Amino acid sequence: MEVAETIESVRSLVRAARDEGKKIGLVPTMGALHIGHISLIEAAAKNCDFVAVSIFVNPTQFSPGEDLEKYPRPLEADLEMCQRAGVDVVFAPASDVIYPGENLTWVTVEKLTEPLCGRSRPGHFRGVTTICAKLFNIVAPDVAYFGQKDAQQAIVIKRMVADLNMPLEIVVCPTVREASGLAVSSRNQYLSEQQKEDAAKICQSLQDCRRMIETGTTEARQILARMREILQQIRSIEVEYISIVDAETLESVERITGKVLVAVAVKLGPARLIDNILVDAGR
Ligand code: PAJ
Repeated sequence: MEVAETIESVRSLVRAARDEGKKIGLVPTMGALHIGHISLIEAAAKNCDFVAVSIFVNPTQFSPGEDLEKYPRPLEADLEMCQRAGVDVVFAPASDVIYPGENLTWVTVEKLTEPLCGRSRPGHFRGVTTICAKLFNIVAPDVAYFGQKDAQQAIVIKRMVADLNMPLEIVVCPTVREASGLAVSSRNQYLSEQQKEDAAKICQSLQDCRRMIETGTTEARQILARMREILQQIRSIEVEYISIVDAETLESVERITGKVLVAVAVKLGPARLIDNILVDAGR
């Protein structure tokens, strides 16, 4: 496994692989790797001949007051995990490699970035789309892998790629969960054991929602009330949003008939946690 810290070095490694006719897969990450990230790497390894993983805590997607400074950066452990997972190259640039000066060019996806996390994290998705556009230009993968865990991010990236005719495919992989149902996240490190137990209620509320939709409840209001009730049982949980939206447009849905995204964001102690499920009421 190679570790590239410069744009030139990752480009030349990828170019060599491409010259051998290899299909290139990219897994963009911010590091602090866990089994969720590994599932993306495994999907890439299965479908591609050369797997690149980027590890970069992207400052432009953090708002002032968020956890940019304390975001975990266990690079050695990350590299070991990548090595074990069969990664070919890790691209781990310093901040000034990616942003050598004031950045004047941004990629913005409209509408899809307004609801859900866009409300409380202004500028977040602009940072995400800009770094992903940069990574796609630097690595030039055939396929890039994203997690359903960050559903809105995956939808926004897909739209950017479609609207800007970027020559790669985006694959979205299922959310990996702990036995309790808690979606695995680098930010779970901020939680105590008790808080992790409390956080499992988020998944429980989503499962209840799925059951309600699958057994014929169509009123979003009724389902949202039930979910709120479940989450309110845990005093440490402060709900930021619980939303039922169209799975493609992310517009709010009142009567559930087709495919919806049910998304939750909460504050729990030191962490902001998000989770979601896709449910197809038509099936
Ligand atoms: P990060 O939070 O490190 O996540 C990297 C990728 O792993 C994302 O596509 C995310 O959806 C996926 N992921 C995280 N937890 C997962 C889980 N439990 N199951 C499945 N996939 C999971 O998301 C980012 O970084 C950044 O915004 C990035 C896209 C790298 C741009 O900076």
